[in-house]
Parts: sequence; structure tokens; C-alpha cells
Amino acid sequence: GDLHYYDFVLKEKNFTRLCSTKSMLVVNGSFPGPVIHVHKGDTVFVNVHNKGYYGVTIHWHGVKQPRNPWADGPEYITQCPIEPGSNFTYEVIFTTEEGTLWWHAHSDWTRSSVHGAIVIYSPDETTYPYPKPDDEEILVLGSWYLGDVNKLVDEDLQTGADTPRSNSYVINGQPGDLLECSKDSTYRWVVDYGKTYLVRIVNAAMNAELFFAIANHNLTVVGMDGNYVKPINTDYVVISPGQTMNVLLTANQSLGHYYIAARQYDSARPDVTDYDQTNATAILMYSGNYTAPNHPVFPASLPTYEDFIAADMFLDRLRSLASEDYPVDVPLNVTTKMYITVEMNQILCPNETCEGINGNRLSSSLNNISFVNPSTDILMAYYRNLSAGVYTDDFPNWPPSMFNFTQEDLPFNTTVPIQGTKVKMLNYDEEVEITFQGTEVLNASENHPMHVHGHSFYVVGSGYGNFNNETDPKSYNLVDPLEVSTIGVPKNGWATIRFKANNPGVWFWHCHLDRHLSWGMNTVMIVKNGGTPETSIRPPPPYMPACNVPYLPWIE
Ligand code: C2O
Ligand code: CU
Repeated sequence: GDLHYYDFVLKEKNFTRLCSTKSMLVVNGSFPGPVIHVHKGDTVFVNVHNKGYYGVTIHWHGVKQPRNPWADGPEYITQCPIEPGSNFTYEVIFTTEEGTLWWHAHSDWTRSSVHGAIVIYSPDETTYPYPKPDDEEILVLGSWYLGDVNKLVDEDLQTGADTPRSNSYVINGQPGDLLECSKDSTYRWVVDYGKTYLVRIVNAAMNAELFFAIANHNLTVVGMDGNYVKPINTDYVVISPGQTMNVLLTANQSLGHYYIAARQYDSARPDVTDYDQTNATAILMYSGNYTAPNHPVFPASLPTYEDFIAADMFLDRLRSLASEDYPVDVPLNVTTKMYITVEMNQILCPNETCEGINGNRLSSSLNNISFVNPSTDILMAYYRNLSAGVYTDDFPNWPPSMFNFTQEDLPFNTTVPIQGTKVKMLNYDEEVEITFQGTEVLNASENHPMHVHGHSFYVVGSGYGNFNNETDPKSYNLVDPLEVSTIGVPKNGWATIRFKANNPGVWFWHCHLDRHLSWGMNTVMIVKNGGTPETSIRPPPPYMPACNVPYLPWIE
């Protein structure tokens, strides 16, 4: 593959949305940030210069980075933050990925403003499992906060309260046409009648699974998370935070203006209360001479809040391509099986008053372990055999007790989690099966988009209620299961995934709702070396950011 070089300059800049101006950290002055273009198999060097006021790391979401966890990015997992006034070069190695992925900050909640798309073409730019489109378009869905996100989050984490709600969703950085303040800056995509476009959609929203549709236009889903899928025709899609989706759209409607709209689908904890504000819009407009309408057409097909049936109808149709040119490789001889409960909980606040439920601190956990970031990164501690005081290798394969996880209105304190930095050790090339079990705490929980670093996985099964070890495995799809790196685990159901642990390194596993990430819905898996140089972690780059750098205000 080819080598590419990018410079990312992180700097605060003023942005005005919803009639209100704030300063926020962005890359190269733009929100969303710059697009990285590569071909399958290329390597990209990104030199990140931090000219902001706090430490930052960047993650290359969905890029497997074989043997190179050093450049993966999550703070305190694979590196310490790049401090203000310093820089760090990431070597991002693309191998099997093809389609669309994205990059984002992986420190605090900085990813709300520090993110952008990654476009991965096939090596010759003509070989695709569908006719080559005439053109393409990138639509990045995000969240907008009127205030300084990291400040708000810090306050809430300290008091144990719920984390901040966004004030609107955005499409390519703009809340859109339904909000008086934002009308004029609404993102517009101009299309030519008769052309077919590849639309690359990224859900970079902080805490919301989204419905997405374009008025009057059919979408053909052809890819997800950097893999191809069997094409499906639909008039709306569901996309979880972290996920990327490639869809084909043919501009075959009468010349006019059409809304592109995104809306939260799980309203159990809506980020916003005002109905209009919850619909981010952009406008698809045809080129040519015609009288522009007063209002663009709104997509009638966009499902409403809590339309779980619409969500499931869409999700159930997704399959891997599983063709001769794009085969699947589902592990068939599972060596490690795990059953992981995905839970919301509360931790008691003994000597202080917390602003969470019942005066307790809000928390979340996996198998009842609420993950705590260490103060120095796990990767270096593992690599240098210095785990003491950093992490322990006792993340459990099962929850501490079995009960009816999906019974309505489970009390918040069904289980009080243990806090710790517990990791799961795996031998090289193990075939892993994980069943994630959702739980119905307080009836107010939501789906959890579980994401893994360094790997992709096959979704071999999912269903409602408690997973049944006798009957459910009989329904597993081992023929053409979806291959992704983020899966929405239903709040009142389960999902089983399989993958081969063939990438030695330290890899983060977490819910991609940042609220849950901050509260501890995370763990780490360490894949051991395979015994040869080609199956071992590469040596670290000559310079990794130092940990525990005392804060020094930095001035250019
Ligand atoms: Cu989008 Cu830990 O990643
Ligand atoms: Cu979650």
C-alpha cells in the first residue's frame, strides 16, 4: 500500500450554532474535522499537534492496526494524553477495511468536536460489489452542546449526577432548517438528476442511536463499519454511535428540495425535549432550473421515537455479503465463551451527597465490574511486565449471579458494582464467543452499542429476553452473519458475537454511548503474543506521550 502524511492541528476556535457562540477544540479549524482518504492496505502517518489547553488522544475507529496498539488511542488504555504544546505521530495501518470508518478523540468527551470521516477505496477504485457510483457524499451526524462539554461532564461526574444532554443533533456540523437560528447555515447537498451517489454516513453523536432518512429517496445499504453487506433497499436506516454505513442513492425524483433528517430513536432518556430540536436536517437539492419550493419535503418514512419495531425490522435484514470475492470466516471452534451483562447501576455515596438517583452516584458496569481508568496506560504496563497497581487480569467470564435480567423495572441497586481495572487475557488465535445480555433497570435503560478495538466480529445471533443457553445457540447464523465492530445490544435482550483474537495487543471494549463509557461500561482484552515476531506486538515507537505530566498552561 501507499504511505500518506497528515498534520492535525488541534486548536480552540469559536463556533456559532443555535444563536449562541462558544469556543471549542477542533482539528485544522473545521467541524467536523478533515477527511482522511486512503486505499485498502495503505498506511497513514498523522502528526497530531496539540495547541489546545488540555491533553487529548485520537482513535482510528474500526481500523484494526495489526500488532500496533501503540497507535490505537484510547487514553489510559494504550497511551497517555498528548499534552498541550506537544505532538505525537500515529501510524495508522489499514489492512482488510474497505468503505467508511472515522477518527475521533478518545479522551474525556472531546470527541464531540474532534472527529472526522475516513474514506477507504478499493485498491483500483473500480472493484466494488455494486456498480461504481457516479459520485459520493459524506454525512457526519453529531451532537451539539451549547456549553463547554468537558466542563459540564466533569461537574456531573463529580456530583454523581446524570451527564449533560446535547441541545441538538447536527448533520455535517449544522442543526438544520427546522431551527430558526440555524436555517441559513443548513448543510446543503447538490445532486444531479440521474446520477447514483455513494453516501457515507457516520454516527458521531455522543449518546444517541439515530433513525436517518432522505425524503422520497430510496437507500440501498451496501456497507457497514468498513465491510460490505448484502444490499438491502430501505427508506430509513438505524445507526448507532460509532457505526458507519455506506448507502447508494439514485437522484431520480422530480427536481426540488428534500430533507435529509436524523432523529433519536430511543427516547427513554431524550437528549432534548423540544420535538423540532430532535430532528437534525440537511437539504438534498437538485441542480438545474426550477422554482424552489417554500419548504423541502420531510421524509414520511422516518420512524418516530421508540419505534423499536421499525428499528428491529431494519436491523434484522443486515447480513454479510458472504460471496466468493468477499467470504466470511466465522470461528467454528470456540475456545473461550463469555456471558457479559451490560448494566446500569448506582454506587452508594456514603459520606457525601450525590445528585444521582436516591442520592447515589450513577454508574454502569459489565458483569458487575465498573471500569476505572488507571493513572498510567495499560499497554505500556503490560508490555514492560509492570501490571502491579495498574490493572488486574481477573475480568470474569460470567456475572456474579444469574437472575431475570430483563424483567420489567429492575431496581437500580439490583447489583451494586465493584469498581476496578480488570482486564480479560486471551491467548493468540483463540476463538471467542461473547453473549452480551441487556438488562431492564428501571425501565429506563437503552440499547448499548458495544464496540471493540483492534478487531471486527460476527453477530451470530440476537433475541429478546434472557439468553437461553440450551435453545438460542440453535438459531445462530454461521453462514452470512453481519461483520461489524459495534453492535447494538438490546436493552431487553441479548446479542452473541464471535471473533478470532488474532491481533496481539491491548484493546478497549466499551459502550459507545459516552455517558456509559464515563460511568464504567468498559473493559479491556489483552491478546497475548503468538510466539513469532509476526504474531507479536511491535516495539513501541521511540516516543510515547508521558503520563502524569503536571498541568502547565500553554501559550503559543
Ligand atoms: Cu469509537 Cu473506543 O471508540
Ligand atoms: Cu451503554
